[in-house]
Amino acid sequence: LRIAHISDLHLLEFDAHTRSRSEKLRLRYLSMLRRLDPIARVLRLRRALTRAREGGFDHLFITGDLTEDGRAPQFELLAEELLASRIPPDTVTLIAGNHDMYDAKTGWHDALRGPLAMFASKSTQPFLLEGCMVVPALTAQHQHFLFSHGRLDDVATLRACLERATRAGAGLLVAQHHPPIASRLRAYQWADGLRNSDRLLDELGQHPAPVVLHGHLHRWTDNEAPMPNPARSFGAPAVCSTDNPRVRFYDLTRGDIRPLEEA
Ligand SMILES: [Fe+2]
Repeated sequence: LRIAHISDLHLLEFDAHTRSRSEKLRLRYLSMLRRLDPIARVLRLRRALTRAREGGFDHLFITGDLTEDGRAPQFELLAEELLASRIPPDTVTLIAGNHDMYDAKTGWHDALRGPLAMFASKSTQPFLLEGCMVVPALTAQHQHFLFSHGRLDDVATLRACLERATRAGAGLLVAQHHPPIASRLRAYQWADGLRNSDRLLDELGQHPAPVVLHGHLHRWTDNEAPMPNPARSFGAPAVCSTDNPRVRFYDLTRGDIRPLEEA
């Protein structure tokens, strides 16, 4: 079975220029190094979805920063694009990133009940995929737009899934936005990283071969937790930052996950 993985779409609504002054300010800050071009961003997403389909996959993970700042029209746009792609919704897992939580406190959850409802179950509930327990995990939280750190929200569910997977000899795949392995730069980790990454790695270390798919760094990364922790993590580059977005592919055979290409 084949997995496709893309990340960091940073979609923007088409009428962003009609925003209030304070909302424009937020947008300009958040989009600092990216052109405020809603059409270019949609085209990049379309290209990434086409590439994923051309490469072939059984399940697609989109690991967060789906939108630039989590406004309802941006989630509506994402829903329209995913439906237009004709990818079956039950083969897609959507994960929220920090950018998806900057607007209304309940914006992401409202979107999962609204325009993204058909993606909700595979985006919020653990499920089995070819001998592998998949855990969609929320690490993003509602916070001021000057902050971008994360915190694994539901450690209890992860632990329960991990225990079940370990007992059953199943694989474990966690999909989340923030990378699970802390940066060595302490200030950077504090400002932008996963605040409880030690806790997450302690949990993951209870499984023989856990894998985390993530985004947030906007670049292709392959990492291993410090020995003897068996956790590995794979980051996908940002779709929004190039007209030529790359898709990561993995093989999943009887619970065992392997990336199919090198950076
Ligand atoms: Fe991002």
